[in-house]
Amino acid sequence: MKLPSSIKPDNMKNLVNHFPQLLSTLQIESSILDAAREFHKDGLNGICFLGMGGSSIAGNYARALLSKESKIPISVTRDYLLPTYVDDKWVVIAISYSGNTEETLSSLSMANETGSRIIIMTSGGKMAQESKHPIIQLPEGLQPRAALPLIFSAVLPVVESLAGLKITDFQYLEEVLVNKSNTWNEWLSTPQEIAESFIGKTPIFIGSRHLAPVAYRAKCQINENSKALAFHSELPESNHNEIESFVKTNGCSILPVFLRSGLEPTKINRRFDVTYEMYHEMGLNPINLSASGDTRLEEMLVLTHFLDMVSVDLAELRDVNPVSVEKIHELKHRLNI
Ligand code: F6R
Repeated sequence: MKLPSSIKPDNMKNLVNHFPQLLSTLQIESSILDAAREFHKDGLNGICFLGMGGSSIAGNYARALLSKESKIPISVTRDYLLPTYVDDKWVVIAISYSGNTEETLSSLSMANETGSRIIIMTSGGKMAQESKHPIIQLPEGLQPRAALPLIFSAVLPVVESLAGLKITDFQYLEEVLVNKSNTWNEWLSTPQEIAESFIGKTPIFIGSRHLAPVAYRAKCQINENSKALAFHSELPESNHNEIESFVKTNGCSILPVFLRSGLEPTKINRRFDVTYEMYHEMGLNPINLSASGDTRLEEMLVLTHFLDMVSVDLAELRDVNPVSVEKIHELKHRLNI
């Protein structure tokens, strides 16, 4: 499978601009979905994602999105180890864009020993040689984190088939995302303005439920694209710990960024409002970012697209290259992997 010719892998802004198109670029083979439906019919106890970094986040998106409907647990493992509860009644989805990530290869080899049913997603490397399992082939040449829309577009129907759920048709989302991004300039704040507000600050992205993985993705994008420190946390949990850390904010450069959903249930909505109020009173200047969309899926993807652009704009303001990940490579090199 080839990437559209307008895609420039060495230009992160180009890649973020193509986020909507990348959602409908990968045509998943029907044999993969048939295999997933067979696994469902045979009966399975859970789905476990294996992966690291940019290759792992789609698992969190699928888990958050399907948590209400799926009758089986969906877990995401970022480690050398396969959790002991994952046995031959589980399906493992191992994702590594390069196909050579040490931790993923290790947990995958444990899944092979355990007899779990396995689906692989990769663009090559050692994982592409796991020919006894169904393989979803990704096109080569992208930074793994830029491949999120491609990966997610395959992960979602596979997980829905495994869980016996109706497959969401999200081809239409390409248009929704393009239309939304064409109106960014009319939003309360543009990606550029949000990026400017991050200068000299450390953002902490706070999401809840389906926007919790979006907060995590934003933190990772600021780390990898903008080469800047960022954190993420989750409501309601952070109301039980993190809130205490802002009692003495003298000189505090933390900038809380609340990711707000138009679909928040009343209790969560109130928590966000009161937390905002209290953070403000404690001397912080939090930002509310509202996700726009009619469904949870739309909200997740529209806000991810927006925040990906923030990370690229911040990279420009900080005069760093958003594509290269030299330190990640150096570490892998030093570890000899
Ligand atoms: C680089 C990136 C990283 C990688 C991670 C795992 O763009 O996003 O977080 O995803 O180092 O490598 P892969 O994805 O090849 O398994």
